[in-house]
Amino acid sequence: MLIRTPKDWALRESAATPEKIYRLSHRRDFLKSLGVAGAAFAARDLLAATGGFPTKLNPAYRDAALKPTPYDFITSYNNFYEFGTDKADPKPNAAHWKPEPWTVEISGLCDAPQKIDVNDLVAKMGGVEQRIYRHRCVEAWSMVIPWDGFPLAKLVALAGPKSEAKFVKFTTVLDPKNIPGQREGTLDWPYVEGLRLDEAMNELAFIATGIYGQPIPNQNGAPLRLVTPWKYGFKGAKSIAKIEFVAKQPRNTWNIMAPDEYGFYANVNPRVDHPRWSQASERVIGGGSGVFGSRQRTLLFNGYEKQVAALYQSLNLEKNY
Ligand code: MTE
Repeated sequence: MLIRTPKDWALRESAATPEKIYRLSHRRDFLKSLGVAGAAFAARDLLAATGGFPTKLNPAYRDAALKPTPYDFITSYNNFYEFGTDKADPKPNAAHWKPEPWTVEISGLCDAPQKIDVNDLVAKMGGVEQRIYRHRCVEAWSMVIPWDGFPLAKLVALAGPKSEAKFVKFTTVLDPKNIPGQREGTLDWPYVEGLRLDEAMNELAFIATGIYGQPIPNQNGAPLRLVTPWKYGFKGAKSIAKIEFVAKQPRNTWNIMAPDEYGFYANVNPRVDHPRWSQASERVIGGGSGVFGSRQRTLLFNGYEKQVAALYQSLNLEKNY
């Protein structure tokens, strides 16, 4: 049996399940909201007793109105075509894949191109923090995910893009020997994605290395995946191998596969429907009994208008979907 070595980039594991620990950490807010004197301190003690998780929760990205989706739904209802096309496929099919050791290439139009081990990269980023983000799939379902990771802007700063660099291209893993889906022509492998450089530097753009304070499971994109919560989930390139600074807008996999249905921007927009279905509302995964809970209204930029609207002031959002 292979012994799993602890990864530097993951928050420390504790005895309880990720979700239980998370709930415990949120007890403090709950007790505070009841106005119980001293309750915050009691809850903090409780936290310390469980290993201190979450150690670096970023309060700026912790909206008390958001109810995180149960861990089991986040990690068993996935899109990761490398491991199958059904939502239930990636978890079992990726279970034995070993995305370690892992080197990321940072290259293209930048001052500090480098190939760097994922653990060294996270150390250079100053470790990981937790953020709770909405997650909206183009297929009109949504979740709320406590991600662990670091801001993409920090990685951009490490690379030092040259003035000609206008976009960032993400190329994900290509390993057909060990990844069953890549031995079939389902998609044009490897899966690629891109962002405008100013989008990549937006405060929300994030590189995730964990979920609920645990190392990110293979099916969610171990060891590194992109998270852009104001965009549809397909922007969230999983298992990133290369991050390149480029002058021209790169193609992205779903745009290559179906250009009439999927664009480059992929900004969540309830007023711009997908050609085959409405984007006005979304089904909340795990929000009730069974997989699909209630339906809720979809918000412009997935509720992150304040942080990102300025990026698109001069853009026609209907044409640039
Ligand atoms: N990344 C790779 N490498 N391969 C994929 O098939 N699917 C995308 C995106 N990233 C995909 C990928 C799509 S369509 C979505 S909706 C999200 O991952 C799903 O992320 P989740 O499974 O963590 O919810």
